[in-house]
Amino acid sequence: MRAIVFNGETAEIRDDVEVRKPGPNEVLVRVVAAGVCHSDISVVDGTIPWPAPSVMGHEGAGVVEAIGDNVSRVKVGDHIVIGTVANCGICDRCNAGHPTWCKQSIGNRTEPFTVGGVPGGNFAATSSFAEMTIIKEVQAVPIDKEVPLTSACLIACGVVTGVGSVFNRANVQPGDVTAVFGAGGVGLSVIQALRIKAAGLIIAVDTLASKGKLALELGATHFIDASKEDAVQRIRELAPFSADNAEGPFKAGGANWTFECVGHPAVTGSAVESLDWGGTCVQVGVPAPGVTYAVPITHLTQVDRSIVGSRAGGVRAQKDIPVIVDMYKKGLLDLDRMVSKTYPMEDFFKVVDDMHEGKLARGVLTF
Ligand SMILES: NC(=O)c1ccc[n+]([C@@H]2O[C@H](COP(=O)([O-])OP(=O)(O)OC[C@H]3O[C@@H](n4cnc5c(N)ncnc54)[C@H](O)[C@@H]3O)[C@@H](O)[C@H]2O)c1
Ligand SMILES: [Zn+2]
Ligand SMILES: [Zn+2]
Repeated sequence: MRAIVFNGETAEIRDDVEVRKPGPNEVLVRVVAAGVCHSDISVVDGTIPWPAPSVMGHEGAGVVEAIGDNVSRVKVGDHIVIGTVANCGICDRCNAGHPTWCKQSIGNRTEPFTVGGVPGGNFAATSSFAEMTIIKEVQAVPIDKEVPLTSACLIACGVVTGVGSVFNRANVQPGDVTAVFGAGGVGLSVIQALRIKAAGLIIAVDTLASKGKLALELGATHFIDASKEDAVQRIRELAPFSADNAEGPFKAGGANWTFECVGHPAVTGSAVESLDWGGTCVQVGVPAPGVTYAVPITHLTQVDRSIVGSRAGGVRAQKDIPVIVDMYKKGLLDLDRMVSKTYPMEDFFKVVDDMHEGKLARGVLTF
């Protein structure tokens, strides 16, 4: 079958990949559509180190092709979104409603594939850049067949991460001042969730002016082109300490919540500096391992500012994905406009180029 394989240096489109049969509690999925998330680019450029060969992709939706023993949640023919967290389902963290804290849910690369006859691994327990893939039953979330799979696939990573960062990792109140750094697939999902939460100001920040239009259409109240303006200063002007003073004592004024959806330490810096007293920066973007950011500690301690991480928005796939589908069907969450373009899987590098040129909210590969 065809698949996109990371060979240690770059991505290769191959037609000599095979997948094994599903074992107990496993599901074989015929992938129909897969979004290209920035984390896929990070695998190719080395920002996210990953062993090779591995079948790439982690934002996918498809149809159940076969099920292994003991699978009861889905049946052959069901449409599913493929959750990326292959948690155990029985540990204390899973039972506490935090599958992203399950110790079995990270670094659990297995080798369900062969690539040219050699054992091939998966990526993020998912490998959605393949005609067929194997996942655990816990990752298979059945959805309504009315939902186009080209839109549904975005839910698997970008949308659960963005929406979950607002719903699960933050506690945004109506009227709050918010700022979102990076208006890509993840940032646009954050913006939509903030609109649903009735945030007061939703300030989108990006270095590409082309990102402004859709950000504003999907819910941002303001757009800052960070290639031309100082984002921190602009945010403080939009949410000043007082009418005649943008910055008060201990840098008062600014945002109650900021979301870093880029993965660059300088952007983390801006997102933390933009916070009002008591504000929280939710760090979503993923830089290379070991990348650090220095923060003046008193900026946090004196007035209760915080930084929290967000792994896939703290997603609980079987609970959160149906809620997201419901919000989509009610017209609250627009997934269709986030699919800028679909491409045959052979055009993976075209998607990467279009992404870098700022032409896409999301590019979606079809199989
Ligand atoms: N924590 C998680 O679980 C998780 C899940 C998915 C993605 N991610 C990470 O989130 C980040 C965003 O992913 P995406 O798929 O939305 O990427 P994307 O490429 O679609 O969007 C990134 C956006 O950031 C903008 N940008 C770049 N530099 C900037 C800067 N200095 N200031 C402001 N904006 C800037 C780009 O123009 C682009 O619009 C990546 O680091 C990705 O690896 C994390
Ligand atoms: Zn992703
Ligand atoms: Zn667990």
